[in-house]
Amino acid sequence: MAKITYIAFDGTVYDVEARDGSTVMENAVRNSIPGIEAECGGACACATCHVYVDPAWLEATGEPEPMEEDMLDFASDVQPNSRLSCQIRVSAALDGLIVRIPESQG
Ligand code: FES
Repeated sequence: MAKITYIAFDGTVYDVEARDGSTVMENAVRNSIPGIEAECGGACACATCHVYVDPAWLEATGEPEPMEEDMLDFASDVQPNSRLSCQIRVSAALDGLIVRIPESQG
C-alpha cells in the first residue's frame, strides 16, 4: 500500500490509500477525485488523467514512455513534471506521492 495525495486546482487535498500494482489514475477514479476523468480507461489514449508530479517525486515516478510522451502533446498546460496518471503504477516506493491536478481539469 502507498499513500497518495492528490491536490485539486482549488487546493482541496485528497489522501488515498492505494494498492500496489494499481495506477494513480485508478485510485483517483475509485475515490471520485474531481479532475481525473480517464475517458479511455487507462489505455494511454485520452490525456484526461493528466497530473503534475510533485518535484520531489519525479525521480521515483520515472520518465514517461514514448507513447505517453506522444499523448501528453494533447494535454493542456503541459509542464516538465506532467504525467498521465494511468501510466504511473503504485508501489511501496511511491508511498507519500503527491500529484496536482491541472487547472484545465479543475
Ligand atoms: S486514462 Fe486515458 S490517457 Fe490516462
